[in-house]
Amino acid sequence: MNDSYIGILVDGFVYRGIKHGYSTFERVSFYEQASKQYGVIPCFFRLRDVTLESNQVQALVKGANGRYKLTTIPIPSVIHNRSLFFHKQSKGKLLSLQDAGITVFNGWNRYGKMTVHEILMGNEELHSHLPETRRASLENLKEMMNRYNELIIKPNSSSLGAGIIMVERVDDGVWAVNHKQEKKLFTNELPLILLKKAANKHYLIQQRIPLAKYQGRPFDLRVSVQKNGSGEWQVSGIVCKVAKLGKYVTNVAKGGTCKSLRELISGCPKMDYDKVYTQIEAFSLKVVKELEGRFPSLADVGLDIGLTEDGFPMFIECNGRDLRITFGKASLMEEWKATHTTPISYARYLLDSKTAEE
Ligand SMILES: Nc1ncnc2c1ncn2[C@@H]1O[C@H](COP(=O)(O)OP(=O)(O)OP(=O)(O)O)[C@@H](O)[C@H]1O
Ligand SMILES: [Mg+2]
Repeated sequence: MNDSYIGILVDGFVYRGIKHGYSTFERVSFYEQASKQYGVIPCFFRLRDVTLESNQVQALVKGANGRYKLTTIPIPSVIHNRSLFFHKQSKGKLLSLQDAGITVFNGWNRYGKMTVHEILMGNEELHSHLPETRRASLENLKEMMNRYNELIIKPNSSSLGAGIIMVERVDDGVWAVNHKQEKKLFTNELPLILLKKAANKHYLIQQRIPLAKYQGRPFDLRVSVQKNGSGEWQVSGIVCKVAKLGKYVTNVAKGGTCKSLRELISGCPKMDYDKVYTQIEAFSLKVVKELEGRFPSLADVGLDIGLTEDGFPMFIECNGRDLRITFGKASLMEEWKATHTTPISYARYLLDSKTAEE
């Protein structure tokens, strides 16, 4: 009986939204439609609602009246994680679930950018797609300034675009640091903000990718790469994020806007849509397969990928919990829906594989 349930592990914010019937990032109706299609019942809960000792979870299950109701059920044997965890305790609980034979896909989903970079560097085929990346230190900053005209200095773990600075050579021996809408010129003496970031071991110094531009604004991509109903990786959608005029980060939280790849490429004379799409797809699949070697439960990521003026894909980062909202913001409804349907189809595949093993 419990096998027909698929668990969707959410955070407190999304949980409250479902409980009280208001919408958040997660499109519950997309999960419901997909579940109908794949013959499963979605139920939503937080990690704290799971009691391993009794093999039970207090989950939100849709009742006959169309409202979600707290219901005690056996822990579903397949769980799609949509939450982010910050404590070791949570990591421990996820592991205990796994030990109890429960499959949590995308379980622990926070990885430092440096770790990801190092894993990808392990595959020579990916080298030309990876901007040079070093841990922040004064020595590394000086070296990187000798090697590149533009640098990005950013936190090693998620920041939603906050705390990122850009350093650029504007003339022989003259540099500028861009921070919070301000451009500060300097020559030999490094400005305080730069010294501070360079001395922060939680930061990275990275070669800046010369991002292609749309109407004078840099853009990059969010690529949803997920495992599907055959247990295979697929690209479920690609959407572009365009920086606010004058900015060098494209994050929506920093005023970026979302548009379709087709629309943006139509404004880039050096790019051909089909060719660029195929390249992005092939590159994204290589990236996830490499990462999967190190993170076996990986099944649903949002890659940030930059394109050069010629459409060559360059890796920016891997988001272990893609909010998927960028697809909605770009009105890419089919893709947005697919980002919810695909993990449910994968959950079905996992359920069937487990049943076959029994
Ligand atoms: N090396 C780079 N070259 C060019 N642009 C970059 C580079 N690194 C970051 N950016 C810009 O800054 C944005 C934010 O950087 P990134 O995606 O690495 O971190 P983040 O989004 O702040 O992190 P998180 O998603 O974990 O919160 C990118 O989408 C891109 O627009
Ligand atoms: Mg990002």
